Amino acid sequence: MIDEADAFAAWELAPVHCLAEHGCLDYHRVWGLLRLLLPAKPLFGEDTIVQGVRSLSSGNGRILLCGAADTAVLKLILEVGEAMDCAPMVDVIERCASACEVLRLHAARRGSKVNIIQGDFSDAAQLSLPSPTTYDLVIAHNILGLIPGEFRQAVCANWASLSARGSTLLLVQTLCASDVAWLDRNRPRDVDSALATLLNGLRSRDVSEQRTNDILTTAQRFWQATWRQSPALTEASVKSLLSTAGFSTTQVHYDACLERGPSSASITTRSGHSRALFMAVRRRHVAGVD
Ligand SMILES: C[S@@+](CC[C@H](N)C(=O)[O-])C[C@H]1O[C@@H](n2cnc3c(N)ncnc32)[C@H](O)[C@@H]1O
Repeated sequence: MIDEADAFAAWELAPVHCLAEHGCLDYHRVWGLLRLLLPAKPLFGEDTIVQGVRSLSSGNGRILLCGAADTAVLKLILEVGEAMDCAPMVDVIERCASACEVLRLHAARRGSKVNIIQGDFSDAAQLSLPSPTTYDLVIAHNILGLIPGEFRQAVCANWASLSARGSTLLLVQTLCASDVAWLDRNRPRDVDSALATLLNGLRSRDVSEQRTNDILTTAQRFWQATWRQSPALTEASVKSLLSTAGFSTTQVHYDACLERGPSSASITTRSGHSRALFMAVRRRHVAGVD
């Protein structure tokens, strides 16, 4: 699901490139390693993403991946594209230079032409995009909850302005039952057991003692913190943001992206979180855009 080279490249590159004000350093350092070393799980909404990429079989299709902390979603898109006769074109927009660098290394290693653009969706004016700038499939995979509440509508409007009329948005998002606050992420005993699994994985790969300790300390800090922004998102608030931006939500799947455990926000009923995949269509006419 993720290449070992990408996971260790992120560990090396994040301290060089992540900006303190983004608060993403621990996350960008360990997320790929967690994907690599904890028991493999399907990506949230994997089947729907595969179907979406396959549906662009003409070869002129353009895909935009919004925010990619690691290479797993990009790799999935590229693999599906390569298996088709005519692969769609893929652009990625990601705010953090460290993630951009790892995505570029991945694309270069597999010889894929991917346009990796460093940019912030909260600020449409500074996005430097290739032309033409509309996409047939926009994938926003676990990004909306990281955007502070006051910028979320602008970010969704940005996605609408980048989407071709009638095109599809696939949005994966952790949700809460209420929009007051995100709930605690992980119980200490879940963190302890995940650390033990991580340790086994690092030992089986012959990682040095010093690096093993650094990785465990960083993972523990990551699991004990929460990076999501307020207010918490609910199904109703996501639908409302999308509708105002110019998307009609056609489906919401909860079971398509079931995952549990401290490698991500746990989605058990115990925690009160859930994970959902929203499928939405860009309306043909959006006031202020078309
Ligand atoms: C949670 S990660 C996506 C992880 C991956 N799709 C997954 O589910 O495992 C979200 C990414 O969005 C990026 N990001 C956060 N805010 C952003 C913004 N305003 N504009 C562009 N990218 C942003 C972060 O740097 C991070 O790499």
